[in-house]
Amino acid sequence: MRQEVVNVENSSAIHPDQYAGGGLAGARWRDIGNLVRFSEESSFYRLECEGGVVAIAFRTDRIVRVTMNPAGEPDLTRNAGLLESAEAGPGRILVEEKEREIWLSSSQLKVVIRKEPLRLSFFDPSGRELVSEGERGMMMNSKGEVLCVKKTGEDDRFYGFGEKSGFLDKRGERFGMWNTDVYAPHNPDTDELYVSIPFYLTLRGGAAHGLFFFNTFRSAFDLRGEREHSFQAEGGQLDYFVMAGPTPKDVLAQYASLTGRAPIPPRWALGYHQSRYSYETETEVRELAARFKEKGIPLDVVHLDIHYMYGYRVFTFDKDRFPDPRGLVEELRSQGIRVVPIVDPGVKADPEYRVFQEGVREGMFCGYLDGQLFYGQVWPEKSVFPDFTDGKVREWWGDLHSFYSELGIEGIWNDMNEPSVFNESKTMDLDVVHANDGRPASHRELHNVYGYHMSAATYGGMRRQLEGRRPFVLTRAGYAGIQKHAAVWTGDNRSFWEHLEMSVPMCLNLGLSGVPFCGADVGGFSNDSNPELLARWTQLGAFLPFFRNHSEMKSIRQEPWVFGERTEAVARKYIKLRYRWLPYLYSLFKEANDSGVPVVRPLFLEFPKDAETYAISDQFLLGPSVLVAPIVRPHARKRMVYLPAGGWANYWTEERVEGGRYVLVDAPLDTIPLFIREGAVIPLASERMNTSERVEELALHVYPPAAGESVEFVLYEDDGATFGYAAGACYSERVNVRRSGESRLEIVSRVEKEGYSPDWGGRRLVVHAGAAGAERLEVTINGVKAELLEARSGSGDVQVYSF
Ligand code: GLC
Repeated sequence: MRQEVVNVENSSAIHPDQYAGGGLAGARWRDIGNLVRFSEESSFYRLECEGGVVAIAFRTDRIVRVTMNPAGEPDLTRNAGLLESAEAGPGRILVEEKEREIWLSSSQLKVVIRKEPLRLSFFDPSGRELVSEGERGMMMNSKGEVLCVKKTGEDDRFYGFGEKSGFLDKRGERFGMWNTDVYAPHNPDTDELYVSIPFYLTLRGGAAHGLFFFNTFRSAFDLRGEREHSFQAEGGQLDYFVMAGPTPKDVLAQYASLTGRAPIPPRWALGYHQSRYSYETETEVRELAARFKEKGIPLDVVHLDIHYMYGYRVFTFDKDRFPDPRGLVEELRSQGIRVVPIVDPGVKADPEYRVFQEGVREGMFCGYLDGQLFYGQVWPEKSVFPDFTDGKVREWWGDLHSFYSELGIEGIWNDMNEPSVFNESKTMDLDVVHANDGRPASHRELHNVYGYHMSAATYGGMRRQLEGRRPFVLTRAGYAGIQKHAAVWTGDNRSFWEHLEMSVPMCLNLGLSGVPFCGADVGGFSNDSNPELLARWTQLGAFLPFFRNHSEMKSIRQEPWVFGERTEAVARKYIKLRYRWLPYLYSLFKEANDSGVPVVRPLFLEFPKDAETYAISDQFLLGPSVLVAPIVRPHARKRMVYLPAGGWANYWTEERVEGGRYVLVDAPLDTIPLFIREGAVIPLASERMNTSERVEELALHVYPPAAGESVEFVLYEDDGATFGYAAGACYSERVNVRRSGESRLEIVSRVEKEGYSPDWGGRRLVVHAGAAGAERLEVTINGVKAELLEARSGSGDVQVYSF
């Protein structure tokens, strides 16, 4: 039996004080009471109630904000820096006062204010009820806690909530939001992890709406009730945004307009990353890179964990282990491989260490109201922590990264930034006071945004130093909006099949919470991986946005070749496949950047009317058209796959499969079940050893639509390296595919943007006719009969044309 390290709890875990409002120490919840006065202010509606004042502000026609400050007038500027500025305000708002209600209506959203007691409900123009309150609504108590209760519809499903363990649909659960370094366990009931994103999307009858609880204090969501659910926080305002949808993708776009969209990552960051806690010397790193080359396994990035530093001092290299970091970085760069070092927030309290000296002198570190510094133990032992909530500190910290960027480093890995501290509370003292850009606040209030601000500082600094090139930042902790600065990995998982399985819904919900660039440690971080697990995990990792194999010191090594040839062959196949799939993946990152729709998607995002998809946690879609069904159990060589309605092609066999049903699919060890949706257009590249190599051939794979139908795809490219794309230095080609009869396929392609010219060696069009139920299609490209280069037949016919 495996030994699991768990904290055994005693009965104090069910002490009455643990229950909000329930114990002797718990305070009684007070209702907001009746509406006393309603007025229209310049940018919001003011609702004075018996128990407090509420502001309602339309941000757009589809997004409305509700703010209640138990301590006085609602403050709409609090934490404003965390929000994007509103692009265009709402159109005209109609105010209708009735005897018992007041209605506020934009063209897309109607707020119904019931006066006695105050209850808020939100409807779309068709009268569809979104968020609503019944018996209970807004509440507060004498401890300064706030609580909001909403109705739960019979078939409501809840998604999002950032980084949570467990399955995809969170209905029936209760969890908190408090950034926590959880080394173990990551169980279904481990509710607080490294990232807090108090946002959720509700799916009801195929339509969606969203709610963002904009509060940075420790908060909790209770989704257990059949008729009600609630969210609450330990302090601050009851401040939330309702997003009207109506589709799940609309909700995600609305949420992105509030918290920001992820920049397109540098292309190299989408390649394969190899890590270990730790590759301890320069020689080890060189040998590692050489080994990948010798084995013919592509590699873009090697991560340097804490051993590269001199006594765990950030912004240093250990001179014995890494005598020539510049030489190392240059040498790897010449092979197309990048180095990403870890940077933790803890700064060693060493009076002879430059960063400590400078930071103390300039008042850069967190401290108490009386001016004393906060000290905590982390890897370098006694340490201090920069106050990233302060712009001056973010700038200083960002500038310190020139230590790395001057060596040619373009990516930074932020860890321990919950912040994690080796003490009983596992973090900083709650009475530390942060500068918070001129509005000082306690750590109790700002704990959840500490990591967010650290990554903002890192990204900002690297961006200044890289002069137009895109930085890559990876973070463990974050808050809503983290996607603007960093990719997120899910922390210290283990080499358990259960953790492989759980990584899927975790990434899906992170994606639904605005974070498209995410992944889990492939192979598992702690405990010992094994051949089959590594093979299956690498297969899955190849299709998740962030693809890194990482493991811990005490665990068995898990580089792709350590488990022998069979496993190595599977790992090589999928890492290579990842590189072939990069053009498609890249276009999905572009889409995420444009619209906030994630790269990997739960099935319901594309099929919101298909209730069968609502609880599927072990399958996902890569973009709109590729269904991935990983194997999540040992020795499994077949699995059941749900295919939504429509035609699908088995990627491996070209066999056409009718959807709207479950199918049993073969999955020998080297095969992850993959299905391509009818009508898909997928650009795939020729093989490469890393992203610095040229794509010799780009193949546009067309899975024809049903007869009479047409589809469109935009092939997007840019230099993959700079921010030129934002100024138009990009290439886009609109490809229209029309199946104008059983056997005719008309391709019309039009270049729409030519600010960048892709350096593909050549192009091909690959038509998967067999998958469309045909042997051969007559293909025209821009009205001219296409030149057939090759025809393959097998279980499904495929034709290759010049393009
Ligand atoms: C934390 C990180 C892990 C890293 C280790 C040492 O546990 O989550 O990824 O390897 O610290 O830095």
